[in-house]
Amino acid sequence: MHVQPSPSAESEHPDDVASVADDGGATITPYRDGPLIVRGDFRLIDQDGAEIDPGRRTIALCRCGKSGIKPFCDGTHKRAGFSAPSAPSRPRPAAHLRAAGDAED
Ligand code: FES
Repeated sequence: MHVQPSPSAESEHPDDVASVADDGGATITPYRDGPLIVRGDFRLIDQDGAEIDPGRRTIALCRCGKSGIKPFCDGTHKRAGFSAPSAPSRPRPAAHLRAAGDAED
């Protein structure tokens, strides 16, 4: 399967907001009211383990659920009025559990 993210989906995400991880790995940036931007060295695989060709080194993954080319963002989140912060507004419950477990160690 080869799916090319639309140029419009990527053009709204300037590369100067975040850079590739210092260790050469990948970074994933949740964009406010938009997709997850993945940069760096990563592999995209489906649930069966089959490689999905990302077509480029920086990709936008849909997190609104409305894209016509999932898992890639096609810009539909704007028309859909998708709203989400870039960072979580509160810690995940699992993070609370892990922090409590760390304190007991
Ligand atoms: S996040 Fe862009 S179409 Fe879903």
